[in-house]
Amino acid sequence: PVPPMRIAFDAAAATLSPEGPTLTRRMSDLEGLFADHDAWRDAAEGENPVVYSVVSSPVPEEDRELPQSITTIQPGTTGGEFWMTKGHQHPNHQGEIYLGLHGAGGLLMFDGERTEWIDMAPGVIGYIPPGWAHRSVNVGDEPYSFLAVYPGGAGHDYGWVLEHGMGHRVIAGDSGFSLTDYTR
Ligand code: PA5
Ligand code: NI
Repeated sequence: PVPPMRIAFDAAAATLSPEGPTLTRRMSDLEGLFADHDAWRDAAEGENPVVYSVVSSPVPEEDRELPQSITTIQPGTTGGEFWMTKGHQHPNHQGEIYLGLHGAGGLLMFDGERTEWIDMAPGVIGYIPPGWAHRSVNVGDEPYSFLAVYPGGAGHDYGWVLEHGMGHRVIAGDSGFSLTDYTR
């Protein structure tokens, strides 16, 4: 266990201090997730842009701890699909909360049958109940950031999403976004 600690949280800048590990996901890390595989490959083999980054607090991902992290998703689309996180299921089905910090995004959840979508904006809490896979999507034209607080033993099952999908896809349209059925 770690000692009690003070962590400075700047919601506007989307930073934590002190910081723990940081993760950066580029387009090449998102294989098999966008419907338009050719568009994905062109982007991954071309500029290979950073799609999102996750900065964590120093609280470890261990059972009974309660770590936090801030995810920032860059604005963009690939094959008409808004940039998004990989998405995952918690292997032991623990819950999680997100707090919107900056930009316009959404929290897409899928329990294997039902899809739920929560519009995320600064000040909005999105609650992920036990057993719902979750993916975040930037539907705006500036970076979208949110804080996550989760059980340290929750884990990340990315294979679940590759196998089951996320129910719906988030597609760019003339006036914002729309959700379409998941087709592979
Ligand atoms: O704990 C969470 O659910 C988030 O911190 C995510 O891990 C983060 O947004 C990155 O998404 P993913 O883990 O699906 O790549
Ligand atoms: Ni999670």
